[in-house]
Amino acid sequence: MNFILNGQTSLYGIFGYPVRHSKSPTFQTYLFQKYGINAVYVPFEIHPDYIKDAVDSIKILGIKGLNITVPHKEAVLDYLDATSDEIKLIKSVNTIKNENGKLIGYNTDWFGFYESIRNNQLYNKIKTVLVIGAGGSTRAIIFALIKLGVKNILLTNRTISKAENIAKDFKNLGSQISVINFNEIEKYLLHTDMIINTTSVGLHDDDNELFNYDSLQKAHFVFEIIYKDTKLIKKAKEKGCIYQTGHEMLLYQGIKAFEIWTGIYPDEKTISEIRELIIS
Ligand code: ATR
Repeated sequence: MNFILNGQTSLYGIFGYPVRHSKSPTFQTYLFQKYGINAVYVPFEIHPDYIKDAVDSIKILGIKGLNITVPHKEAVLDYLDATSDEIKLIKSVNTIKNENGKLIGYNTDWFGFYESIRNNQLYNKIKTVLVIGAGGSTRAIIFALIKLGVKNILLTNRTISKAENIAKDFKNLGSQISVINFNEIEKYLLHTDMIINTTSVGLHDDDNELFNYDSLQKAHFVFEIIYKDTKLIKKAKEKGCIYQTGHEMLLYQGIKAFEIWTGIYPDEKTISEIRELIIS
């Protein structure tokens, strides 16, 4: 359903730097139109120096909701009025709701990952997961793995202290988290059901391998947070592994953000339509 902008039109958007590559404006606009909501969703390229001013402007301009992407996900935390419970552990915000002038921060990345794995045929068989990385998205993924009931998480990162900090914060929440050396990944692969890359390695075609990708086995479920066929994914395909790129996670984090703003959780048919938009 199309609509005409008028005095009642609400404003939503995304803060990022850069932001021009983002699929969220197309995705969220599709949802607003589909559900007949009089709203527009706009990309805002905000230089990191101005992120405080930008967050303050949400109230001034009456923006109703925002997605927050790289590099602002941690920085916005300082300027919000309240945050949802998951933020205590995940420590980064990807969604803001303006509730009558009060800015509430949420993280829906964990839900994106949770939902994309729950829909996979291997979901029930995953007992031990190797997580590579300790950056912005790693915490959301570990939060989701714990909710999914994964028993053992092996965590590694080039800078090991960052992995240790995460393991400490997520201690005693139901999963055993063991930090392993970054250069010993191959040693643990035989005992691993799922391998998750949360690092930025693979974004460029000439990036080195995180470990010897030839050690992948057919039984491994490989998850790549990057939205493209990286070397890791290419090797997973070659070996016949089940694999997933970041598209499904992107899809469901956005669906959840839309629900937070509007109270509407899209039906399956609409979700499939958006999946097509994201992949194309
Ligand atoms: P941030 O840490 O600022 O949130 P990010 O892009 O979310 O940034 O995370 C970057 C991740 O990719 C980190 O785990 C980083 O490892 P370090 O903590 O050691 O920096 C990882 N990473 C980036 N380049 C890498 C490389 N060449 N080899 C291995 N890991 C790399």
